[in-house]
Amino acid sequence: MSKHTKRVGFVGWRGMVGSVLMDRIRAEGGFGKYEPVFFSTSDAGGKGPSVGIDTPPLRDALSISELKTLDIIVSCQGGGYTNEIHPKLRADGFKGIWLDAASALRMKDSCVIVLDPVNRDVIEKGLNSGVRDFAGGNCTVSLMLMALSGLFKHGLIEWISSMTYQAASGAGAKNMIELAAQMARLTTAASTLLSNPASSALDIDRAVTAELRGNSIPTANFGAPLAASLIPWIDKQHEAGQTREEWKGAAETNKILNTTKTIPVDGVCVRVGAMRCHSQGLTIKMTKDAPLDEVTEIIKSANDWVKVVPNDKESTIKNLTPAAVSGTLNVPIGRIHKMNIGPEYIAAFTVGDQLLWGAAEPVRRMLEIALEQ
Ligand code: HSE
Repeated sequence: MSKHTKRVGFVGWRGMVGSVLMDRIRAEGGFGKYEPVFFSTSDAGGKGPSVGIDTPPLRDALSISELKTLDIIVSCQGGGYTNEIHPKLRADGFKGIWLDAASALRMKDSCVIVLDPVNRDVIEKGLNSGVRDFAGGNCTVSLMLMALSGLFKHGLIEWISSMTYQAASGAGAKNMIELAAQMARLTTAASTLLSNPASSALDIDRAVTAELRGNSIPTANFGAPLAASLIPWIDKQHEAGQTREEWKGAAETNKILNTTKTIPVDGVCVRVGAMRCHSQGLTIKMTKDAPLDEVTEIIKSANDWVKVVPNDKESTIKNLTPAAVSGTLNVPIGRIHKMNIGPEYIAAFTVGDQLLWGAAEPVRRMLEIALEQ
C-alpha cells in the first residue's frame, strides 16, 4: 500500500465489541492517524460516533462500491455480515485489508488469526506473502495464549487441558443484561428472608432455588438460569462429544502459533455468572520436568500484560478474580504449582477480560500494524 493517508472503514462500531474497540482506539489516540469512515447497515446518512475529530455522515455498510474505496475495513458487525459482504467485495476486486472480530473467516487458509504479542511473526509472514484477511481469535484461546505464550515459545508445552469459567459477555450483550436481571430476581426472592436475622441459610437457599426453578426468572437468551448456577455448554455441538467452543481450543491455538506438530488442547467449557472476564483452570503437561521457578520466570517475561500472581491466598483472592481484572488489560495467572500427578505436570489459573484481550485489543493492535504497511 502507498503512504497516503489511509481510509479506514468501521462497521459494527455500535455493538459491544465495537464500542470497546472505539474506546480503546480513542484512548490510544488512534483516530488522528488515518481517515476514519463509519458505516451502518441500517442508518446510512446518520451521525457517526464521537471520536474527537469531525467525521462524515454514516455510509451504507451494504454498498460494495463504498466499501471498495477503503484501504482497511474493520468489522465488528458479526459473522453474518462477513459471510454476506466479504466474498462479494473480494469478487469485486477489493485488495485492501479486511480485519474482523468475528469467527467467520478465522479458520480459512486465506486468513491469519491475530494476537500480535504471541504471533507477530505469523502476522508479518502473512502480510509479506499477500494475506489480506485477518481475524481476532476466540476469546478463551486468546486469553490462554496471552497467559502461556512464554511456555509455548520455549517449547515447554506437550498438551493442555483447559477447564473454563466463561463470562456472560462471551454470549453477547443481551446475555449480560439477562444475567444481571436474573441476579435481581434472586435478590428480590430472598430479600424478606435476608432482612430477618433469624433466617437460616437453608431458608434462603429454598427461596433462591424455588426462583431458579420457577417460571419468572428470565432465561430467553441463556435457556437456563446462570445466576447462582452455571451452564456447562457453550456454542453448538461439535464432534466426539465436544462443543464447538471446546474444539476451537486446539484448532485456533495451533493456527495462531502456526505449529508444525499439533499441540492438543481440550477441556470442558462452562458458562459462569461473571460479567466480562473469562477464567481458566489449566492442567499443563510439559515436555520436560522444568523447575517451577524457571517456568514462572518464562511465563512472566513473555509479554507486558501477563502478571504472575504468587500462589498464596491473599494475593490470589485480591488479584486473580474477574472482579479484580474486569475492564483492564492485565492477564494474571496464578495458582502455579507442580501437580502430584507427576513432575512434568503443572496447574495454573488465569483470568482475562473477554472484551479487551479476548476481542477488541488484538483487532485494535492489528489495525496499527496494518497502517504501517
Ligand atoms: N465464544 C465465546 C464465548 C466468546 O461464548 O464465551 C467469543 O470468542
